Order: sequence, then C-alpha cells, then structure tokens
Amino acid sequence: MDNSDETARLFPPPDRLRNESHVKSMDDYKEMYKRSVEDPEGFWGDIAKQFYWKRSNIYQMDGGCQNKHLLQCYRPAYKNGQGDKIAFFWEGNDPADHDSGNITYSQLKDKICKFANILKQSGLKKGDRVAIYMPMILELTVAMLACARLGIIHSIVFAGFSAESLADRILDGQCSAIVTADGVWRGHLLPKGHNVQQNGDYVDYPEEKPAQRPTRSLKVLDDGLELYHAQKINWTDGRDVWWHDVMGTASTDCEPEWMDAEDPLFMLYTSGSTGKPKGVLHTVGGYMLYSATTFKYAFDYQPDDIYWCTADVGWITGHTYVAYGPLNNGATSIIFEGTPFFPDAGRFWAIIEKYKVTKFYTAPTAIRALMRYGDEYVTKYDRSSLKVLATVGEPINPEAWLWYHNVVGNKQCAVVDTFWQTETVRGSLHEVEVLTPTKPGSATFPFFGIVPVIMSDEGVEITEPNVEGYLVFKQPWPGLMRTVYGDHERYETTYFKKFPGYYCTGDGAKRDEDGYIWVTGRIDDMVNVSGHLLSTAEIESALVEHPTVAEAAVVSHPHKIKGECTYCFVTLKEGKEFSDALVKELMDRVRKKIGPFAQPDFVQNAPGLPKTRSGKIMRRVLRKIAVGDKNVGDITTMADETVIDKLFQLRPPEA
Ligand code: WT7
Repeated sequence: MDNSDETARLFPPPDRLRNESHVKSMDDYKEMYKRSVEDPEGFWGDIAKQFYWKRSNIYQMDGGCQNKHLLQCYRPAYKNGQGDKIAFFWEGNDPADHDSGNITYSQLKDKICKFANILKQSGLKKGDRVAIYMPMILELTVAMLACARLGIIHSIVFAGFSAESLADRILDGQCSAIVTADGVWRGHLLPKGHNVQQNGDYVDYPEEKPAQRPTRSLKVLDDGLELYHAQKINWTDGRDVWWHDVMGTASTDCEPEWMDAEDPLFMLYTSGSTGKPKGVLHTVGGYMLYSATTFKYAFDYQPDDIYWCTADVGWITGHTYVAYGPLNNGATSIIFEGTPFFPDAGRFWAIIEKYKVTKFYTAPTAIRALMRYGDEYVTKYDRSSLKVLATVGEPINPEAWLWYHNVVGNKQCAVVDTFWQTETVRGSLHEVEVLTPTKPGSATFPFFGIVPVIMSDEGVEITEPNVEGYLVFKQPWPGLMRTVYGDHERYETTYFKKFPGYYCTGDGAKRDEDGYIWVTGRIDDMVNVSGHLLSTAEIESALVEHPTVAEAAVVSHPHKIKGECTYCFVTLKEGKEFSDALVKELMDRVRKKIGPFAQPDFVQNAPGLPKTRSGKIMRRVLRKIAVGDKNVGDITTMADETVIDKLFQLRPPEA
C-alpha cells in the first residue's frame, strides 16, 4: 500500500464524537488552554473543586519551574452513590479465567481498607516505603491504593524486572516491606516470589544500616485463584504472611491518613542516562489532579465508557491510566494479565468485543507486532463499540497509525497519540484529541498547562517551522515530578540545568507550519525499546561485569516491531575469544541483571572502538556501523580511523 498521500492528510475528528465531547470545539480548547497557562491557579483551582478536600482547595504555583500547592488533605475520590458500578473487569491470560476477577467500587474500597489495616498492623505508617512486585492481578491495585490510603509511598517494580533490579530499587528506596505474588501465569507459572527470595541471597545488605533491609514481606495470594497455590516459595515465619490468611479477618473500615497536597504519593524508577535508575517522586495533590484531568479530557471520558489501557501497572502508564486516572473518574476499566498473542493474535480484539470497550490505549510496538498477522484477526471481532484509539510510549510510525485507524477503528474512531514521561505525567503533547484534526505520527498540541518549546543547542527558542531542537517545557504544571528520591541535586541537574527555567524532556522535536508537534526521539543516551526506556550506560555496565569483557558501547538500532533495539559493541580482554556462546552469555547477563525486556538484539565483537583523541566513544559512528552505512560522517577528531573498517567486517550477518 502506498501511504504517501494518506500520511500527509489531515484526519478530522469523527463527527459522532463531537456531541458528547467535554470540549466542544478547537476554539473552546484554545480558550481553555490559554487560561490554563495564563492563570494556572484559577484553572487548576476550579478543577480541584471537583475533588474531595478536607480543608482548602486553593491551588498556587510559584514562578520557578516547581509547583507549590496550598491544598490540604486530599482524599481519593470513590464517588458517592456508585458503589455497585464495576471498577475493574479482570481478564486472565487464559480466556477461561475471567470470572474470578470483576470488582465493584464498594468491594474495591473494602479490600483496600482491609489491606491498609494489615499494613498498619505490621507497623507501617505514613512516609514509609513499600515495594510492590506483582503481576497484573487485582491485588496489585488493592496494594497500591492501600498504601495511598495510609500515606505510605508505594514503589512498584514492574514484574518483568530481574531479582537484581528489584533489589537495587528496594535498597535505593529504603523500603521496609514488599508485597509480592508467587508467580505470573503464562500457561504455566513463572515464579516471581523466587526473585524476591533471591534478593536475600543476592544483595549484601549493609550491616551498619540494618534499617535498609526489608523487614516484612507480605506474600500475596488471591483467594479465588487456585493456580497461585501451586508454587512453593521460600518462607520465613514471623516475617512473611499470606494475603489470604490475613485478608479474611481484617476490618473494612480504615480512616484515610489526611495528607498535605505536597506530601509524596509514590515513587517509580525510570532509567537514567548515567546508568543508575532514578526514583521519580510524585506528590498527592498534583499527581491526583493531573492524572484525573488528563484521563477525562484526553480520552474524553464518559460515564458509560468501558475503558482499557493495556499497560502494566508496573509502568507509569499503568499507574496513571489503569489505576489513578480511571478510579478518580469513577470509570469502569479492564485489567489484563495476559499477552496480546495468547491464545492467538486476535486476543486484544476479542477482549474489546467481549466487554464492548469504548476507549482503548496501547503501545505502537503492540500495533506493529499485531499488524503482521493480517487483518482477519481483527476484523472477525465486533469493534463497533470503539470510539477512541490511543497510543503511548514511542513515536508511532504512519503505517501503524493508518492500520490502527483504518483496520482496528474501521475509520470511525479518533486516533490519539499521547507523548509523556514517567517524570511528567502527561506533561505532554496531545490535548482533547477527540476533536483535534490529527496527522499520522504527530503528537499534535499541548495538554492544559503545558507550554512546549523547541530549543536550540544554544538555548534559543526556535520559532521557525520544521526545525528540529530539544523539546522542553516552559512553566510548571501539577503533574510534574518533585524530586529524584534521595537525590534532589540529580533532579535539578538532569532536568533543569541544561536550559535554566525550562524542564528538559530529553527528546527532540519539531513543529510544522500548522503548529503540530512531531517528537523525533531521544537525544540522550537512552534507547526506547518497545516503549521501555533503557539506559545504554546500564547495559554497558552489565556487559563489562563479564570476566572476558574489557569495554562495551551500546547504541540504539532500528527495529521493525520494537521501534528501537540495542546493539552492543564489546571489546574483549587480551587473549579472549569471541564466540556465539559468548554472545549468548552476554545477552543472558543483561537479561538477568536488568530484566528479559532489556535483552540486546545484537552483540558484536569490537577489537577497538571509535574514539576521539580525548577518549570519548563516538556513538554516532557506531550507530552508522550498526546499520551498515559506510557514510559515517565527520571523523576528523577520531584517534584511530582504522578501527572503522574492522568493525564493518565484524558485523553479525543478521544485523
Ligand atoms: C519517553 C518516556 C509515559 C509513557 C510511557 C513511557 C518516549 C513516550 C511517546 C510518544 C514519542 C514517546 C519519549 C519519552 N515517548 N510517548 N507518544 N511519541 N515518544 O514512559 O518510560 O518515562 O519514557 O518515552 O522518548 O521521553 P517513560
């Protein structure tokens, strides 16, 4: 199919969505947007009135790039009078599993209170940190919201992370308890409790700081899910308790801990360009307001919607658009534990038909992977309930966009690209997209409160169209992270130092002549693999821990499904042999160290690396070598040009 005409086209919003939309026209959007940036206190203050506050609801921001709230004592909004509404439909990996999981708002509230009481009885209190390492089961959201109810800072670690990554995060966050499950169901049980146990063996807890050692672990088992009982996991009496043992007797009454708007709500780790992951810290008032508001407007949420975000709660997308955003709006949504490929590549669309999903949110990488199986997997299911199709995590290529629009949405849906980050909670582009004429691949316009600027390397705002620069945001908004846990200086250096007074996203972007913003990808040493940000430095440090490796350089490489993948150049120590077995060992090492999703696609032998005379690795040259492009650009500063030919010769044939 030749898409060249279609990709250049402007896609108007579907007429059928116009009537119900919260914002009636682009002019209304412009007016609201103008107020949100010119009078943020009034704008967010009005929105805050829709929430339940114990004291005042005055919202104030200071002039610098940081928010300040005078809001007191926020309480999560379990809307009155809708206790019987379904909060979540739970859908397991096996299509036959689903019945055990539906939960109403009042049942959810009861479970949250019960679990909060259990946390309280174990001595946990406001300000403590609790790690959560669980698959996509309802207990995951119960555990996180029980923490929120008590002012305990949850630190959720995506269940795909390795034991070592989990241990790093527990130690850095000084967590005093962990909530986990014994496995993830994938046709068979993948042990997870085991990874937690490994922590004890793996990590050398510093003797002099015994408080850093997790003191309690609450092993989680759902009463209804027999399958989880199958797994034997290690156990320490007096420290570990089973979920099903303690939940039965706990009380369903639990007064929430009243929080200041600026108190921390949760932390969530994201990759850092120096290698060490950063504990991104969000606060109660700002995060709640912003997640609720973006959910309402970006998906144009309506009370009868059945909403489905496929992201894992272990990532920011799941925090915001599986848990907090939908719940704060009283929405009904789906939690899916499985994969899009089981029992076959039609699973997403089968679930959409089954629950009559109206708003659907997934990642471009999933769309690209599913496109390859052909349209029949989609078209055999009824998708007429769908109204909004959204994506997140990486730039969406026009082919994938058009397939999503034409085949999945049958040309009847608004297709919405949402750009944002763990740090920004939709500090983002895209707005009330339902009414935005879209261009395939563009993240369109800013959400309320966001002032995007395209910045030159010299720190000058670029105003002419189609010139690429750094994507930065000019003024604060409620959902901006407040600090890097335990390292405020790193927060300032990473995000505010390059262009003082602006928040630096780390992405490149340009604005076209119609004002549409196009995000072009990371401009730092991060790689976006299937929508997961990976730090090349972190992968390099995993590789050089191998006894045969002297040096490693990892670069981003294009990949048809994942968008990007990692390509690793390794220099071996004197006398060591490069072999297929070594490649496998190195790939396994990265898997073990970070997690299966981080496994590199290519590892190549590099007897030497292209470096400048001052010893800096020239990654742009390595990226060219990885794709086999002989036009490597300016190499006048390179110390030894002969390495380039050698590297071209040693490229793995499949690259
Ligand atoms: C980075 C943030 C918040 C969603 C999950 C990822 C890239 C995210 C888009 C998009 C182009 C995107 C950026 C960003 N990204 N969404 N729609 N178009 N790029 O959260 O792990 O914090 O990663 O993901 O590079 O900086 P994250």
